[in-house]
Amino acid sequence: MMSLNDAVSFLTALWPGSLKHARSKFSTRSQLIRESNIRDAARLVAQLASVKKVINLGQGLPEYPAPQILKDAAKAAIDADFNQYSNTWGYPELRQAISAKLSRYNGIKADPESEITVTCGASEALHASLQAIVNPGDEVIIVEPFYENYHPDVVMAGGVPRYVRLREPDWSLDERELARAFNRRTRAIMLTNPHNPTGRVFTRQELDGVARLCEKWNVVAISDEIYEHLIYDGRKHLSLATIPGMEDRTITVSGLSKTFSVTGWRLGYFAAPADYTREIRKLHDYMTLAAPSPLQIAGITAMNLPQEFYAEMVGKYQAMRDRLMQAAGAAGFKFRQPEGAYYLFCDASHLGFANDRQSWEYLLNEFSLVTVAGYCFFRPEVKTNNLRFCFAKRPSTIDAAASALLCASRRQ
Ligand SMILES: Cc1ncc(COP(=O)(O)O)c(C=O)c1O
Repeated sequence: MMSLNDAVSFLTALWPGSLKHARSKFSTRSQLIRESNIRDAARLVAQLASVKKVINLGQGLPEYPAPQILKDAAKAAIDADFNQYSNTWGYPELRQAISAKLSRYNGIKADPESEITVTCGASEALHASLQAIVNPGDEVIIVEPFYENYHPDVVMAGGVPRYVRLREPDWSLDERELARAFNRRTRAIMLTNPHNPTGRVFTRQELDGVARLCEKWNVVAISDEIYEHLIYDGRKHLSLATIPGMEDRTITVSGLSKTFSVTGWRLGYFAAPADYTREIRKLHDYMTLAAPSPLQIAGITAMNLPQEFYAEMVGKYQAMRDRLMQAAGAAGFKFRQPEGAYYLFCDASHLGFANDRQSWEYLLNEFSLVTVAGYCFFRPEVKTNNLRFCFAKRPSTIDAAASALLCASRRQ
C-alpha cells in the first residue's frame, strides 16, 4: 500500500502545479484541491445581481419554487418540534419511504434498517463513501467530464483519480478505453447517470461494460443518480445496482435537491449492501451527525408524492430543454441532445475565443448571461471550449438567454 507521502507525490505528478506552496502552513491535501469554480462563479453572480439584472443559466439549481406541500410539511415539522438530532442514519420513517421508492422506481431492494442512510445531500454521501473505502494510493476511476466535487472527494480520501474521457461528440463511454483504466490498484469507479454536464443517459450496453469490469477487478461502483427522475423522451432510468453482478458492489447515491427543487435543504441518501453501509455510516456520523431533522420529516412527504408530480416536472423540463436547444442551435452552438439531467453542454468554438474561460467572460460581461465554463468539468490540463447552460429555468429566462445567445453569436 502507498504511504500518504507517496500518494501526494504521485498526485503532484498527475496534476502539475498543484503543490505550489510546498512549505505552506496549510495541509498538502488542501493544496491539492482547487476552489469550486461553479460556486465561485455563483458568488460573483450574486454580487453582480445586486447591481444589474442577470440572466442566470449557471449553477444547477431550479428557478422554480419548492412544491407548496413540502414547504408546509417542513413548517409543520418545526412546529411539531422535530428540532433535535434525529437518528444519525436518518429517521426510520424516511428510510422506509426511501426503501419503498427504491423498490418502486429503481428496482433496488434495500433494507431501511441496514442498507439505507440519510445524509446532508448527495455530496456528503459521495464524500463519506470514498472516506470509507479508499486507502492512500488507491485509484478511483472518474468519468470525464465530471461533476467537480469528484476530484476533491477522491483526493481528500487519499486516493488517486484516474480519468476516463467520454467520447465526443456523442459523449459515449467506450468499454475498451474504460478497461485500460482498471488495474490492481483500482478501488472504485464514480459514475453519474443521468450525466452532469453532458445530459447523457448511459445505455444498458454501457452499464453492462462498467459491470463487467467492476466484477473482473473486484471494484465497487459509486453510482450518483441525483438526476434519476430528470429523464426525457419516455426513457426509463436504469440503476447500476440492478445490473447482474452489481447488487453487492454498488453504492447508489441520490437525494432530494434536484427532483424537488430543494437544493438548500441538503438532503440526500445512499443505499448500499449492509457491510458497506456499516462502515460509511461511521464516517457520516462523525462528519455531520445527521441531516436536518424537520426537513427529513418533510422528505417523507416528498418520497410519497404521486406519479403525476414527476410527470408534470419532466414535461416542464423537457419543454425548457427543447426551447433552449432551439435557441442555442439557432445561435450556432453544437451539442448532443440531453437525454436527462437539466443541462445543455455546448461546443462554443464558433464564438471565436481561445477557450471557454473567455467565452464565459464575454457572455457575462457583454450580455449579463451567466453560464458555466466547460473547464470546470475537466482536469486543468485539458483544453476546452464548452459552455454548460442550465435549463431548469422559467420560460422568460430561457427566452432572454435565447436573445443574448443570438446577439453573442454575431460577434465575428
Ligand atoms: C452529479 C451531481 N452529484 C451531486 C450533486 C450534489 O447534490 P446534493 O445537492 O444532493 O449535495 C450535484 C449538484 O449539482 C451533481 O450535479
